[in-house]
Amino acid sequence: MEKALRILAVVVVVLLLAVGGFALWVQNRGIPHYAVPKAPAVQVAATPALTDQGQKLVMASCADCHLNQQTRSLSGQKMRDLPPEFGTIYSANITQDPQHGIGRWTDAELVTLLRTGIGKDGRYRVIMPSFVQMSDEDVHSIIAFLRSNNPMVQPDATPTHEQEPSFMLKALSNTVMKPTPMPTAKVVAPEPTDALAYGRYLVVGRYKCYDCHSKDFKTNNPMEPEKSEGYLGGGNALLNMQGQQVLSRNITFEPETGIGNWTEAQFAQSLRFGITPQGTLAPPMPKYSQLTDQEVHAIYAYLQSVPKIKNATPEDKGAIASR
Ligand code: HEC
Ligand code: HEC
Repeated sequence: MEKALRILAVVVVVLLLAVGGFALWVQNRGIPHYAVPKAPAVQVAATPALTDQGQKLVMASCADCHLNQQTRSLSGQKMRDLPPEFGTIYSANITQDPQHGIGRWTDAELVTLLRTGIGKDGRYRVIMPSFVQMSDEDVHSIIAFLRSNNPMVQPDATPTHEQEPSFMLKALSNTVMKPTPMPTAKVVAPEPTDALAYGRYLVVGRYKCYDCHSKDFKTNNPMEPEKSEGYLGGGNALLNMQGQQVLSRNITFEPETGIGNWTEAQFAQSLRFGITPQGTLAPPMPKYSQLTDQEVHAIYAYLQSVPKIKNATPEDKGAIASR
């Protein structure tokens, strides 16, 4: 008996030391640093067409986080739509300012960050989404736009606020949240004429619809997106800028709880203007006002081919009950 107690005491002490040690280690390490992966040598050759494409992608996929309403430029802001358990995080100033923006980042450093989430100083930008499935051309178009003479990216000397990650975010970024690997081969988008393949590319690569529209960011699989839990079935608990919860919706073609009964025209209206057959869409659903007909058609065709998931999100309740 006495021996058993002694062993128990030793076990408890060892456990306490381990937990305490882990906590100290996390606290000391903070958000981790990594060796900066090398991007293939790139020097983006901007053309007007490439810069226009970049503007469209930045407005769709970066501005919601980086656009500062006061400066009207991409000078960064507080992330009010982040769960408070993560601490207080600020999006960075990505204008051309050499000191406070990305004026001194090379194209290769920007590619590395967008692909992996690792900054040029090696620090993991843990809340910044990574775009590992995006085509090289699309990534380059974004960089062309960031270097352009558009007013939103002109040098703005607003410093990026120092990050205040919580202990939990530090612990997560040292354990389960990891940078994505640098692609080892060229990433090329499928031809737009192949609607299914192109639609898949838009959903997982260019616009990352699957990231918000699958069950949970924590179970998403950036390398094999279709293996994300509840792929495109909605229910991811997101927050809007007021910190209120907004569930993402089921966008599989399941007829009762998904969008199986929507026409392509209704689908186009909802993506471009946020107007659905049932009502209006609010942030954090982005407005894809510049989507081409070809893009809408491809996404619609691809979503029809995705395994249907029955998952009712709040807007379905009335519709189901009234049947
Ligand atoms: C969900 C919000 C979000 C989206 C969407 C987003 N970012 Fe960020 N980004 C952040 C946050 C937050 C940081 C700062 C992270 C940190 O310092 O830990 C950041 C950091 C960066 C940095 C690093 C700058 C520096 O000085 O450290 C660059 C460059 C960048 N983002 C570019 C982009 C581009 C280009 C896009 C669109 C393709 C984009 N971001 C989309 C939130 C976002
Ligand atoms: C940043 C997260 C986010 C991204 C990225 C995103 N969505 Fe959404 N989406 C949402 C949220 C949240 C809602 C619900 C909004 C509401 O309740 O007002 C929504 C709603 C929708 C709806 C309405 C469905 C219904 O049943 O009413 C459709 C369709 C849709 N999204 C399609 C897409 C497509 C296609 C893409 C990619 C091109 C995409 N979304 C990208 C978050 C996102």
